[in-house]
This record gives sequence, structure tokens and C-alpha cells, in this order.
Amino acid sequence: MLKPSIKTVTTKKLLTFLILAAVMMTVVIAFNFRALSHNIVKNEATAVSEIIKAGLTAHMKAGIMDKRDYFLNEIKTAHDINRIAIIRGPAVNRQFGSGRLEKEMGPLAEKVFRTRTPEFIIDDFGATPTIRAIIPYIASMQGGLNCLGCHKVEEGTVLGAVDIELDVTKYRTMASWILMVLLVASLALILLIVMNTLRTVQVYIKDPLESLIERARVAYEKHKPVNPERFSTLEFENVAKEINLFNRDIIANQELLKQLNHSLVELNNEIEDTLRETVFTMGVIEEQRSKETKNHTRRVTEYSRLLASRLGLPERDVELIASAAPLHDIGKLGIPDEILLKPGKLSEKEFEAMQNHTAIGYSMLAHSERDILKAAAVIAHQHHEKWDGTGYPWGLQGEDIHIYGRIVGLVDVFDALLSRRHYKAAWPLDEVVAWIKKESGRHFDPALVDVLLENVDEFAAIGARYGSNGGEGENSAKAADAGAAGVSAPTGSFQK
Ligand SMILES: [Fe+2]
Ligand SMILES: [Fe+2]
Repeated sequence: MLKPSIKTVTTKKLLTFLILAAVMMTVVIAFNFRALSHNIVKNEATAVSEIIKAGLTAHMKAGIMDKRDYFLNEIKTAHDINRIAIIRGPAVNRQFGSGRLEKEMGPLAEKVFRTRTPEFIIDDFGATPTIRAIIPYIASMQGGLNCLGCHKVEEGTVLGAVDIELDVTKYRTMASWILMVLLVASLALILLIVMNTLRTVQVYIKDPLESLIERARVAYEKHKPVNPERFSTLEFENVAKEINLFNRDIIANQELLKQLNHSLVELNNEIEDTLRETVFTMGVIEEQRSKETKNHTRRVTEYSRLLASRLGLPERDVELIASAAPLHDIGKLGIPDEILLKPGKLSEKEFEAMQNHTAIGYSMLAHSERDILKAAAVIAHQHHEKWDGTGYPWGLQGEDIHIYGRIVGLVDVFDALLSRRHYKAAWPLDEVVAWIKKESGRHFDPALVDVLLENVDEFAAIGARYGSNGGEGENSAKAADAGAAGVSAPTGSFQK
């Protein structure tokens, strides 16, 4: 899943926080504003009732109570009053009798008379918001209006109450507008804050970060330090400095690793070369003890390399076959001299003992974990196996014989035929070719034979270079060695 960018995360977090904060602020302001509005309308209702009270008292004192309707209508119009009712208290009724316009006392008015405190009922969610106020008239000697001058009551007695209902639409409209403006201002502020923050993130984090990544890559590739002065904030300047230190260490370590690696490769090559030379020398030692034709080991090595290469085997296999081929007859070191060096034909029993050089060679080499020696073990074991299953020691057939064994098996015989032995002359190349062709699919893998014959000139050149006719062992090419036991050759046959 694609991870969010710094800008996305910042926008989400900031928007969530700001919207929550704006909602909370708006709610708090709205509640406070409502409380304030309630106080304002209560004060207005109280003020209006005081005017009514003063006006009615003035009418009464002037003896013009019959004109009070005009006065009340004027007050109603001037102060958005829906309704005015005057409630007379029991004391006033007792003294003057009940009035014409006065209203009966309801439960709320009774409460006002009892508690002598005003009561308000505010409806600010209706279609037309209103406040109903019942304000008591309390007899007092204070001020210009000495109530006790006319009313025969004790001071503090509730004489009556004004019950008015005011239309407060204008306050609600004003409050709504203020809240609306507040909301729009909040949204605008949120937008500004988010835009400013995003711009800050872009300019001070995202851009320098991308620039730093690119510059760090270039610095690493071109071995040139990042310039910390390019960054306008302290943090990025410090990171740039750290990257330079880091790159310097990495580059220094790389150089060191390169040198160490080079030394290791050289050491490894040295070890491999030493092993190859040792293996080859062992092959030569065996060659000399067996009194093989001179340079047989060298030629088998080079023939094997050439055949494996022309077959298209991987380079590592070619190298392994060539390195291991010298040991193909190493098992002969375990064959007694009287058999190995016996001039003349071997008995059946001696021949069987001679064949055992494959198993001896294998057991000499099989314990090793080295690739060259493991390959040599396979070759030593299988170089006398034949494609048609008539070879030894196991009588393996076809591709059950390891390719290393098939290759060395073929070039070993090829060299034996081309070499002069004490019991036979060196065969001419065309006769060798004819014989190998004949044995294709019998003794030898036909595919290998094809490749050898296609490149026979190159093989012959190797033979010439390393003198296939140049020397002769005293007891060379015993049948077991040549791998052609019992095979009649065009110009002679191998001894058994
Ligand atoms: Fe050989
Ligand atoms: Fe052999």
C-alpha cells in the first residue's frame, strides 16, 4: 500500500484538529452569547415594565387613569410589545376594587407575588422569539413615588405586577448573524492556517528533503560532499553534514573492502593454482610409475578441456574437468608393480585387479570437499564406463555415466590410440577417427564423438604440440588403461 506523504498526513491532522477546535469554540461562544442575549432581553423587559409602572403611577396621581390605554398602546408600539397585562394585588383590590383592564392572577403571577421577584419565560426557538416577563410592583417609600402615600399597605407589599410579552426577533436575528460571521471567519482562518502550514511543509521539509536525497545520491556516486549551506534550516544543515561524514566512511570502507577482496581473490587463485599444479603433478607421478606414454597426462588434460569447451559446457565445468582429468588413473598407485608393470598379457585375475584402479582412485578422492577433487573422484571412477553399459566398474549406461567420465573416457582412448605403445605403433589419425566412429554409441557417447570429430584438427594439434608420438612407456596402455579391453583395432589390438 502506498504510504501517505508528509503533506497528506499534516493536512489530515491539522484539519481534524482545527475543525474540532472551531466547533468547540462556536458551541462555547453560542452558549455564552445566548446567555448574554437572555440577560439583555430580561433587562429590556424589566426596563419597559418600570416605564409602564412609572407611567401608570403618574396617570393615577394625575387622576387621568382613563387615558392610560393610549399610554399603554404607545409603549407597546415603541418597544415591540406583543401584550401588556396589569395584575392588581389583593391589597389594591381591597382598597380600590378590581379594575377594568386588569388580568386575573395565574400560577406564575402568584409565584411572583409570593416571592416578590420577577419571573421570565423566554422562547427563543419559536417562529417568533419572545420573552414573557412578570415584574412585581412593590410598595416603597423610597424615591419620588411614595406608594404608601396612596396605598394603605405596609412597605414591601406587592401591589401588583406587569405581565408583558416582548417580541425579541431582532436579538435572535442579530445573534444569528454574529454566529454566521464567526463561522465564516473561522472557516477562512482554518483555510489560511492549512494553506500556510502546507506551504511551510513544502518549502521547509518536502523540498529540502527531496533535494537532500538527490544530493546524497550524487555525493555518494561522484564522491563529492553535499553543501550544507544550501539548506535554510539548522536540521537539514546538520543532516547534510552527517551524510558527508557517513559517505566519507562508506567510501573509505569500500576502498578497504576492494583491496581486501582483491587480496582474497589473489589468494584464492593462488590456492586453486597450487591445487591444480599439485593434482597435475600427482597425475604425472602416476604416469611415470605406470610408465605411461610421455605427456599422456598433459594431453588428456588438454583434450578434456577442448572437448568440454566445444560441447558448450559452462566455463566452471570446463575448468573443473581440465583440472581433475590428470587424476583419472591415480588409482593405479594402488595396483601392485607386478601387475601394473607386467610385460605381456595379464591373466583374467590380474586384469580384474587392474580394473580395480577405478574404485581405488575413487576412494582416494571421494572424501574431499574441494570441487576439483570431487570432480576427479567422479572421473577416476567412471572413465572406463561405456555408453552401451559394457564398461566397468558398474556397467553404467548412457547419460547415467557422468559427463566428466564420458569426456575423459573418450579422450583417454583417443590419446592411447594415437600414441605409440611397445606392443603397437601409433595409429594414423584417419584410422583412429574411423575406429572412434565405429565405437560411437557403443563405447562412446555419440554426441561427444560428433564434437570430437568435428574438431579433430584441433585435437590433432594438441597431440602434435605435446608429442603423442614422442615417447613410450615400457608397459603403456594396458587394456584397462586404454579402456579398450578386448577390442580389435585396425592395426593391432590392445593387450588384455
Ligand atoms: Fe589414461
Ligand atoms: Fe584408467
